[in-house]
Amino acid sequence: MENIVNSFIGHAMKKNPSRNTHLNKGPSKLLEAINSSIDVDQRMYKEDIEGSIAHAKMLGKQKIISKKEEIKIINGLKIILNNINKGKVKFKKSLEDIHMNIESILFQQVGKTAGKLHTARSRNDQVVTDFKLWIRNNSVGLDNHLKKLQKCLINIAKKHTLTILPGYTHLQVAQPISLAHYLLAYVEMMGRDRLRLKNCIEILNENPLGAGALAGTSFSIDRNYTTKLLKFNKPTVNALDSVADRDFAVEFLFVLSLISTHLSRMADEIILWANQQFNFVKLPDELATGSSIMPQKKNPDGAELVRGSAGNVISNLNALLVILKGLPLAYSKDLQDDKKIIFSSYDNVCLALEVMTEMWSGITFNTKVMAKAIQNSNATATDFANWLVFNLQFSFREAYQLTGKIVAYADKKNKKLHELDLHELQNFNKKINNDAKKTFSIYESINNKKSFGGTSPQRVKQAIKYAIKKYL
Ligand code: ARG
Repeated sequence: MENIVNSFIGHAMKKNPSRNTHLNKGPSKLLEAINSSIDVDQRMYKEDIEGSIAHAKMLGKQKIISKKEEIKIINGLKIILNNINKGKVKFKKSLEDIHMNIESILFQQVGKTAGKLHTARSRNDQVVTDFKLWIRNNSVGLDNHLKKLQKCLINIAKKHTLTILPGYTHLQVAQPISLAHYLLAYVEMMGRDRLRLKNCIEILNENPLGAGALAGTSFSIDRNYTTKLLKFNKPTVNALDSVADRDFAVEFLFVLSLISTHLSRMADEIILWANQQFNFVKLPDELATGSSIMPQKKNPDGAELVRGSAGNVISNLNALLVILKGLPLAYSKDLQDDKKIIFSSYDNVCLALEVMTEMWSGITFNTKVMAKAIQNSNATATDFANWLVFNLQFSFREAYQLTGKIVAYADKKNKKLHELDLHELQNFNKKINNDAKKTFSIYESINNKKSFGGTSPQRVKQAIKYAIKKYL
C-alpha cells in the first residue's frame, strides 16, 4: 500500500513538484499563459543548478539530509546540467519556471530523493539567488565589451593626436581639438561605466539563499557555508528584505541605461559626421544600408539603431521601477517580469557595444575636411584673446571685447580672422604684431592647450598612456 502511495506521489511530482494538493483544479490555460516564465528564465539554468548544488551540500553538511541523499541529488543535478548544455532537455510551460522544471527533471533522474532538495528554501530565495548570480556572471561579458570598445578607441586615438577637427558647444564650432582628444572623452565615459558596474556587483554580492519564503527557516541551516560556495561576500541580513529586494536589478539596469545613453550620444555624432554637409567620415559599407528608392543613398542604420536602442533600455529602467513602486513586502508575482526586462536590456547593450566597436574599426576619417571645417570658422578667436592677455596685459574681459570687435569687422569684410592683414589688426591696437597672428593657426591652438586634460598632442599622448594602463 505504501509503495502504491509513494509511486502515486512520485508521478505527481514529476508532473509538477509544486502542484498543490489542496487545490482541486489545475491552472486554466490562460493562467498558464500569463504565469509561465520558462521561455525567459531558462537563461538562468546554470545559476539555478549551481544554487541547488550549494544548497544540497549545505543540507548534507548540516545533516538535514543524509550524505547519500546529498550525493544522489548533486549527481542528478550535474547530469541535468550536462543534458541542458547539450540541448537534450525540453522545458515544459506547464511547469512554470526554470526552478520547477529542473526540480521535476530531478525527480525523473533520482526518484523521490529529489523531494528533499527543497527543504529549508523557497522559490523566493531561490529565484533571487539565481538572478543575482546571473547578473554577476554576465557582468563579466558586459565589462569585456566595454573594454573592447575602449581599446578600439584608444588604438585610433594613437594615430590621431595631430588630426584636428572642430570641437563644439551648442553644436556650434567652439575650439579646435584633436580627434584623439575627442575619442578619449568616450574612453573616460566607458571607464566610469565599468567602475559603476563593478560597484553594482559589489553591492549585489550578498547571499539571499536561506531567507526562505520571507521569515527564515526552522531548520539549522548554515548560510555562511552557501555564501562561501556561491562566492558571495556575506549572507543578506534580513530574510524579508532578501526576497523582496530587486534594488540590484534596478541598479544594474541603471548602469545599462547609462551605457546606452553614452552610446547613443556617440552614435548621434557618427550620424552627423557622416552627413554630406559635415562629411567628416565615411562609414563602413557593412554598417550602412541603401535606400529602396534613392540609388545614391548610404544610410547610417547601424548607428541609428544604436541611438534608438537606448530608448528601450531607459524605458526598461522605468518599467522595473514602476513594478516595484508600492509593492508590499515581500514577494509578489509582479516581480517575475524583472528577468525579461534585464535580459532584453543586457542583450540590447551588448549588441550596441559590439556594433559601435565594429563601426569605429571600419570608419575612415576625412581629415582634410575636418581641418578645413575648423580653419574656416574663427575657432581660434579665444587664442587671440589669450595672446592679448599674455602679451599686452589686457584683462581677459578687455581682450574678449576687443577680439569680438575684430571678429565683427572680419565678418563685415567677409574674411576669416586668419585672412586679416596686420595693419587691419593694428587699427584695433597698435601693439598687435605678427606674433599675435600666429594664434590664428589651429595647430598653434591645440599645441598651446597644455593644461592637464587639455587637447595638446603632448597631453593627449600622456592621456593615452594613462588610459592604456588604467583600462586595458
Ligand atoms: N518564477 C518566479 C519568479 O521569477 C519564481 C518565484 C516564485 N515564487 C512564488 N512565491 N510563487 O518570480
